[in-house]
Amino acid sequence: MDEIRKVTHIDNVRLSDDGTSVVIIDQTLLPGEVKYIELNTPEAMYDAIYQLKIRGAPAIGICAGYGIYVLARQIKAKDFDGFYSEFHRLKEYLNSSRPTAVNLSWALNRMEGVVTANREKPVEDILALLEKECRAIHEEDIRMCHAISEYGLSLVKDGDGILTHCNAGPLATSRYGTGQGPILLGREKGMNFRVFADETRPLLQGARLTAFELQRAGVDVTLICDNMASIVMKNGWINACFVGCDRVAANGDAANKIGTSGVAILAKHYGIPFYVLGPTSTIDMNCPTGDDIRIELRQPEEIKTKWYAKPMALPEVKCYNPAFDVTDHSLITAIITEKGICRAPYTESLAALFD
Ligand code: MRU
Repeated sequence: MDEIRKVTHIDNVRLSDDGTSVVIIDQTLLPGEVKYIELNTPEAMYDAIYQLKIRGAPAIGICAGYGIYVLARQIKAKDFDGFYSEFHRLKEYLNSSRPTAVNLSWALNRMEGVVTANREKPVEDILALLEKECRAIHEEDIRMCHAISEYGLSLVKDGDGILTHCNAGPLATSRYGTGQGPILLGREKGMNFRVFADETRPLLQGARLTAFELQRAGVDVTLICDNMASIVMKNGWINACFVGCDRVAANGDAANKIGTSGVAILAKHYGIPFYVLGPTSTIDMNCPTGDDIRIELRQPEEIKTKWYAKPMALPEVKCYNPAFDVTDHSLITAIITEKGICRAPYTESLAALFD
């Protein structure tokens, strides 16, 4: 079981021992190189999130929590007002690095809440509370991912074929992950799944990260191009689809990596259950429907040149590069959270999670 622990207990994001920087694995270098980098300036943190050196909704939130704590320690202010004004400016800056995953603003708002609720205390005390809070965000995510993985595992059986899209494993979250959580937990319990991982164009999180994690954990994983999902479903090789999420609206519409909604449409066609897995920190009850989710648009280079020795399109060719799409709630069999399995009508089942 050591091979599984090496994957599930990877230190993808943590606070340095002296609390002066956030230490992350640079995910842009995977699978070729496992390299840790330290972030201790606002620009380095913004860049790490924007460039996807740290990525995956829960991991972005954890990184932002640690990050704003590290930056708060650097604030030189005479009084609370001076401290808070600079804290808020830094928080807004980090929050602008990526728009779709709600965990980023969720974690930063939570950290800001600690500051505003303790305005009568000395800054030293506020810093101690901020450290406690960012560590709590991480600890809670570990527990949530484990619970999500247990619930997800209850929906499949030994030997099942599972299709995944993007990466919602340990690198994107904490420990077991969400979308890949049931697979890794099942493997730990001695179960064997046959997993098909979509490569996930254009940034290849499926090929570079999911296939890397599952292969290292000893899971039977087969990499496919995104446009091969239909044939593996038609062949009868898939019993369930498991994906993560970046923001779930109150009606159950779920934003996840671009291409997810296509997988859901295919799954419906072939009568395969389509499960979205994520912590309640990814559910945005202030967002009524998927139409209210802001979708991040990224650079054309990611499509035309990034992975190639030579450009694969003329420089003047236009590109449309949305990083996420929204899967309509009608295509989702269940949304699996740490508090349980939600089914339609989602307006009711999701609201009940927050009662
Ligand atoms: O652009 P990314 O790599 O941050 O997108 C990640 C995804 O879409 C994941 O599937 C999602 O965040 C769930 S991670 C548990």
